Amino acid sequence: MVDNIGWHWLISGITGREALSKLQALAHASLPDTAMGAPAYISAAGISVDFTTGGRRNRVLNDISLDIPKGSFVSLIGPSGCGKSTLLKVLAGLLPPTEGEVRLGGLTPAEAVRQRRVGLVFQEATLMPWKNAIDNVSILMEIADKRSSKDAIRARARDMLRLVGLEDAAPKRPSQLSGGMRQRVAIARSLALDPEVLMMDEPFGALDAITREEMCAFLLEIWQRTGKTIVLVTHSIEEAVFLSREVHVMGTNPARIIATVPIRLPYPRTEESYAAPEFGQAATRLRKLLKEGHTRTRTS
Ligand SMILES: Nc1ncnc2c1ncn2[C@@H]1O[C@H](COP(=O)(O)OP(=O)(O)O)[C@@H](O)[C@H]1O
Ligand SMILES: [Mg+2]
Repeated sequence: MVDNIGWHWLISGITGREALSKLQALAHASLPDTAMGAPAYISAAGISVDFTTGGRRNRVLNDISLDIPKGSFVSLIGPSGCGKSTLLKVLAGLLPPTEGEVRLGGLTPAEAVRQRRVGLVFQEATLMPWKNAIDNVSILMEIADKRSSKDAIRARARDMLRLVGLEDAAPKRPSQLSGGMRQRVAIARSLALDPEVLMMDEPFGALDAITREEMCAFLLEIWQRTGKTIVLVTHSIEEAVFLSREVHVMGTNPARIIATVPIRLPYPRTEESYAAPEFGQAATRLRKLLKEGHTRTRTS
């Protein structure tokens, strides 16, 4: 599947000419003419994933069902190795589940990816080091959108850089940008294709604590301005509470959803939200659930 080749490049963080040629394979997939306006929501039913390593079958996800409403901000939280990235890959159409079914706005994930409805952001920004910020933001559009002129693509890339507060960084290469700025460029690159859903796998995991908080505030602003559905994988309780409308808590071995916790903090959320009683209550509840998930694993 041509689409997934490009996305796998984004996941693995390969850079270089080989990656570029893989991305160019995406050029053969064109933007859809229809169904762009259909309501998008994500629904997963009975998802299980088995991996076979060294002849041994290992169940990594077990019977996971969840519904994510359109325009929502939802987090998946759980300890390292519990299966968060695997679940996100299934939701994003990068990995077919062993059992169960996913629908994105009524489409299979593969169809949704083909129609550019899913944008992906990972821990590493995976920018092309020899290209400046505006060219990095343009790259997926150049490959996926053969109908737009070079000027139109550049104008949109500039709009996207403005959206993420980096208009002045357009001529800079990744090595001239901070980690937070590089992630903003990666987010702009994803948003440039106007996906309905943005799936993010620990996007701020490599950043220092203060930059991370700034990026959370920035992400909420982007969410509110664009109305995208956002699915965030994180192992940070604070990040999940600050950002989400709803948090799905995962337990380990095999991963399953042990609880879904609504976060009753009003939006817009600001620095003061961290001090609100609801923040503390939600964080305490999540901490308890995560510990229970661990305990159950050890005793079962
Ligand atoms: N392609 C794969 N083949 C075999 N095992 C895998 C593969 N991908 C992930 N796993 C295993 O599945 C489990 C969950 O991994 P992952 O989804 O990356 O966890 P998380 O993102 O929560 O840290 C881990 O035990 C990991 O080793
Ligand atoms: Mg992971």
